[in-house]
Amino acid sequence: MKPMKEKTDGHAPPIPSVESRLRALAVRLRGGTWLDALEALRAGAGDVFRLEMPGFRAVVAAGPASIRAALVEAVSSLRSRVDPDPVVRLFRTGILVMDGAEHAALRRIAAPFFRPAALERFAPTIVRAADRQIEAWADGAHVEIIEAMRTLALEVLLEALFGIPGPTEAPRLLPLLRAAQAYISPGPWLLHPALSRPGLKGPLQELEQVLRDHIRERRACPMGGTLLDAWIEAFGGDEERVRDQMLTMLIAGHDTVAAWLAWTMILLAAHPEVQERARAAVDARLGWGTPSPEALRGLEELEGIGWEALRLYPPIPVLNRRATASCTLEGWTIPAGVRVMVSLYTLHRHPGLWAEPHAFRPERFRGEGMGLRFLPFGAGPHTCIGAPLARLEWKLAVARMLQRAAFEPAFSTPRPRMGATLEPAPGLLVRIRRRW
Ligand code: HEM
Repeated sequence: MKPMKEKTDGHAPPIPSVESRLRALAVRLRGGTWLDALEALRAGAGDVFRLEMPGFRAVVAAGPASIRAALVEAVSSLRSRVDPDPVVRLFRTGILVMDGAEHAALRRIAAPFFRPAALERFAPTIVRAADRQIEAWADGAHVEIIEAMRTLALEVLLEALFGIPGPTEAPRLLPLLRAAQAYISPGPWLLHPALSRPGLKGPLQELEQVLRDHIRERRACPMGGTLLDAWIEAFGGDEERVRDQMLTMLIAGHDTVAAWLAWTMILLAAHPEVQERARAAVDARLGWGTPSPEALRGLEELEGIGWEALRLYPPIPVLNRRATASCTLEGWTIPAGVRVMVSLYTLHRHPGLWAEPHAFRPERFRGEGMGLRFLPFGAGPHTCIGAPLARLEWKLAVARMLQRAAFEPAFSTPRPRMGATLEPAPGLLVRIRRRW
């Protein structure tokens, strides 16, 4: 990486003062995540600042104008491929790490499969996946909700995008995908990219094999009408390219939804009055009926909860870019070669944009457009392509869970963990009261 301009250059973003760095350290020592530390740095340094540690240098875009500039205005200079980076090594030519014409071509292949109208036929698949989890919960059981939601989300993804039976394939894939997620989770490799990680080698090789088998099977016996078939058709015999897209979609598309669903249920467990209101609204709409997109349309009580969960715990809290040419963020100069971290987490908790930014207040989303202060699905050319599927899954699964069970906290405070996504910390349990 080329060196950044020094602090003496008036156009380089500021380095947080010693005082704000100490405040960030104190946040960490009190058990906050490094995202909370980032928020403490932003409070001291402003919405664009430099992060400098031995072996790691980046510029952080942490407010609405700099984030818009990074994701939308400077796309020709800020690219997704951040080398050398495990995300790029894992996804290779996957859509998330491609740019320009190649990226646009990949979007064109996938886009038809994410149209809301095309997705609605998977509503019964989603409700069945939710039912399988609910039926496994005994009344009074303590459940690690993130684990249950991972299975649910992966089963839906496999069926909806690839035409692969979820309940049979998810148990085999889940532990292998966990290894892939561990491989890309923030860790010491950020400072030492060459660090060897031998424990992950076996599962990652097995994952490659499982994906290759699926691709070969589908090539031999096309099913038609699935995204997997569309990739096979588009890439001819190039199985590696199909593998790259398939793996990207699997990782980007299941853990994010799982985190969203799990945070929702954890927040509802912690706020029984909000949970009761939501359940009353769902019961009034559905009674004993099966949730469907049509039956739940415009149910504001429910929707605000979903947005507020995404605001507080955006599953992808920081996006990564690398400047391939010099550009500016809110007037600050970003030289070529610099890593740019786009912090949706600090945006969503920015005290200049949100009243009581750390409080769970779903009603803040009632009838209000959020504009640039709320970007859980990103913005610009890499905006989440799977957002319509995520929203459909969230709405149907949450409605079903509220209909059939009540959720009580078995924790003192919700604790996040920053893995591949911002997820509930391991061991964060909720107590289930079955209704039926
Ligand atoms: C709550 C759920 C989800 C959240 C919060 C989320 C968030 C995001 C964000 C912030 C990005 C932008 C990344 C960047 O700019 O670097 C993104 C991209 C992406 N997401 Fe999602 N996502 C979710 C669900 C899904 C689902 C269900 C799928 C697929 C089934 C999916 C597939 C993708 C893909 C393929 C990309 C890359 C798009 C591109 O580069 O053109 N996501 N997602």
